[in-house]
Parts: sequence; structure tokens; C-alpha cells
Amino acid sequence: MQSLYILYEKILLSNVVIDIYVYSISMKDAMNKSTLLLATLSLALLSACGQKDAAAPAAAPAPVAAPAPAPAPVAENTAGKSVFGKVCAMCHAIGAAGAPKPGDKADWGPRIAQGMDLLNKHAMEGFTGAKGVMPARGASTTLTDDEVKAAVAYMVDQSR
Ligand code: HEC
Repeated sequence: MQSLYILYEKILLSNVVIDIYVYSISMKDAMNKSTLLLATLSLALLSACGQKDAAAPAAAPAPVAAPAPAPAPVAENTAGKSVFGKVCAMCHAIGAAGAPKPGDKADWGPRIAQGMDLLNKHAMEGFTGAKGVMPARGASTTLTDDEVKAAVAYMVDQSR
């Protein structure tokens, strides 16, 4: 990209040089036919470069667009991640007592299929399934509904 940009600058610069050159000749002899020819040539060159000008900015925004995925982690579910780390991980991270591990698509798939509402309900009110007991709010009674939901969303997002 850097070298492309330098090339682009060089083309711009050579344009200016040709321009000044043609201008100075035509000033000396405005009626000279060869000057007219040169001027026409430079015009053709200019318009050809003009096309490059149009192409170059199209390539230029690429490096700007490249870091664009960076803001995505900003929208990351940080609340859910933190609640998960503090409360849910003690069972879910290692699959203790049959807790579905985040990323275990086989275990999460049928659970996710139930819908987020039921998952959130099970997480908030507690739930006994085929594998074991999920205590209400992971037995951390001080967690708010939103915190529990965020943690559920965090696990579900990793398991889709
Ligand atoms: C003491 C261990 C333990 C803790 C702590 C725990 N869980 Fe669980 N959780 C389980 C177990 C075991 C299951 C699986 C129950 C089953 O399907 O038999 C489960 C299942 C779930 C499910 C799936 C429910 C369903 O309908 O399939 C969700 C959602 C869930 N937990 C969310 C959470 C959240 C959010 C936290 C933290 C706030 C948390 N859990 C903390 C043990 C735990």
C-alpha cells in the first residue's frame, strides 16, 4: 500500500512537471504546431492519469477499512464475560456437574433451539435437566436479571 501511494504521488508530480513544461513552451511560441501537439499529448496523458486518480483513492481507503473490524470487540459482551468469569465459569468452563461448556456446540445446540427466553428463565430460576442441576443465578443470588442474561448470551454466542 505504501509503495502504491508513493507511485501515485510520483504520477501526480510528473503531471505537474509536464504541465509546467508545456506551459512554458506554449508561452514562447503560442502558434507553434509542435507545441499544440505537445499540449494535446499532455492533455491525453492528464486524462489517462485522471483515470488512475479515480482508481487510486478507491484503493487508498482499503487500509482505513481494514482496521474497521476493531470496533467489533468494543461491542463485545463484556458484562456477560465478566459475570461468566466470576460465577458461571466455576461449573461451565470445565463442564462440572454436567454444565454445558461454552463452545460445545453439540451440548448447546438443542438448548439454544429452546430459545433465549427459556434459557434465561432456566438460568435465573434454576433448572434440573438430564445432566444435572443448574442452580438459580448460578447460586449467586446478588446477580441482577440483566447480568444473568448477559452471561447466558455470552455462552450462547460462543456456542453457535
Ligand atoms: C454449580 C454449577 C453451575 C453454575 C455455577 C452455573 N451453572 Fe448453568 N448449568 C449447570 C448445569 C449442571 C447445567 C446443565 C443442566 C442439565 O441440562 O442437566 C447448566 C445449564 C445452564 C444453562 C442451560 C439451560 C437449559 O435450558 O438447557 C444455562 C443457560 C446456564 N446454565 C446458565 C448459567 C449462567 C448464566 C450461570 C452464571 C450466572 C451459570 N449457569 C452458573 C451448572 C451451573
